[in-house]
Amino acid sequence: MNIAIMGYGVVGSGVAEVLKKNHASIVKRSTQDSLELTRILDLRDFPDDENEKLFTKDFKDILNDDSIGIVVETMGGVHPAYEFVLDCLKAGKSVVTSNKELVAAKGYELLKAAEEKNVNFLFEASVGGGIPIIRPISSCLAANEIDEIAGILNGTTNFILTKMINEGLTFDAALKIAQELGYAERDPSADVEGKDACRKICILASLCFGNHVYPDEVYTEGITKITLADVEYAKAWGGVIKLIGRATRYGDGKISAMVSPAFIQGHSQLAGVDDVFNAILVRGDAIGDVVFYGRGAGKLPTASAVVADVIDCARHTVRRKLFGWDDSIADYVVNYLDIKHPFFVRAKAADIEAAKQSVSALFGDVQYLTYEGAAADEIGFITNTVAQREFDEKIAKADFEVGSVIRVTDY
Ligand code: HSE
Repeated sequence: MNIAIMGYGVVGSGVAEVLKKNHASIVKRSTQDSLELTRILDLRDFPDDENEKLFTKDFKDILNDDSIGIVVETMGGVHPAYEFVLDCLKAGKSVVTSNKELVAAKGYELLKAAEEKNVNFLFEASVGGGIPIIRPISSCLAANEIDEIAGILNGTTNFILTKMINEGLTFDAALKIAQELGYAERDPSADVEGKDACRKICILASLCFGNHVYPDEVYTEGITKITLADVEYAKAWGGVIKLIGRATRYGDGKISAMVSPAFIQGHSQLAGVDDVFNAILVRGDAIGDVVFYGRGAGKLPTASAVVADVIDCARHTVRRKLFGWDDSIADYVVNYLDIKHPFFVRAKAADIEAAKQSVSALFGDVQYLTYEGAAADEIGFITNTVAQREFDEKIAKADFEVGSVIRVTDY
C-alpha cells in the first residue's frame, strides 16, 4: 500500500522522517506487505530534500493514483485542506490529519464522508500532539460516561505562563522567547488568544459527548491580559495560572465548553505541567480521573501520532466502526454566562477599606489574598461560586477599578 503526504512543513516532513527511520517495524506492524511513501504535495520547492523525486504541486497526482490508499494531511488551515481531504475520502482513500482547525470546523462532515466510503478519517495528532488521547477516549474509556474533560492543550501558552511563573518574565518577554524557539504558531494570536486550545476542546467535547461542538459555540479567552501580579496572587492562593480548555456534561443532555486562564490548585496534576508539555484530565463515571501527559507539539512527537494512525489505516482497510460523533444540535452547548465558577478579582483601590466594604456588599464573604510586594493600592480576592451572568452584573456595580478577572477551578 502507498502513502501520500499533503503539506511538507514541520509535521509533514516529520512524518516522512519517521516513516523512513522506522520503516521495517512500521511495515511489520501495518500487516501490509509494503507501506511506501510515494507522493508529497507542496507548492514550495525542496531542491536538496532526500524526498525530492516524490514532490508534486498537483493534487490530482495523489487523487487519481489508485496505488495510494492512505493520505496524510498536514497542510494546516481549513481551505483547501477540507476540499482535498473530502475528495480523497470520496475516492476511497483513508485520510490521517494533524490539522485541528480542519477537524474542529469540518470533523462531522469528513467522518460522514469516510463512513459513506467505508474508509478511515483519523486525527490522533490533532489534540495533544504525540499524546495518545483520541483513541484512548474512543476505545479504552468506552465503558464510561465522560463527565468532564479539562486540559492544558496549548504548548506555547503553557511555555509562556511557565516562564512568567518560574522566572518572573513578563508576558511580552516570554512570548518573544517562544517565537524565537519556534513554538508559537505563525500568527501567535492562534495560541495566545486561545483559538488553538478552543479547536482542541471542540474535538475532545465532540468525541466525549457525542455531538459536534463548533469553535464559535465555545467562549474563548487567551492569556494576553495575565500579569505578573496575577501570577503572584495565584501563588498566594496556593496554585498556578494555566490556560485551560474544559468541557462538562450536564445531566439534562447539555454540555458546557470554554477556554480561559484559570487558577489551578498547586496539588493538581495539571499544576506541575510546565513548558511546552500538555496534559489532559478525563473524568469518567467508572474510572474516575485519568490524566494523559506528554509533548503536545513538535515535529517528531506529532509525527509519532500521525504515523500510528497511518499504521491503523493500513491494518483496518475498512473503516473502524463507531469512531466519531453525530451532527451538532441546537442549544446543546450552554451559554457561558450560565456557567458557575468562583472568580479571582484583582482591583485598584485608593481607599482599601471602602473597596472591601463594596466587595462585601456585592459578593458577601470572599477570600482575600496578598503577597509580599503587592501594590499598596490593590486588592485581590476570590468570590464564592457564582454564575458568570450574576458575577458580571455585580462587578459592573463595583466602585473600584477592576484589573483582572480569572476563573478558579476545583482541580
Ligand atoms: N501551537 C500549538 C501549541 C502547536 O503550541 O500547542 C500544536 O498544536
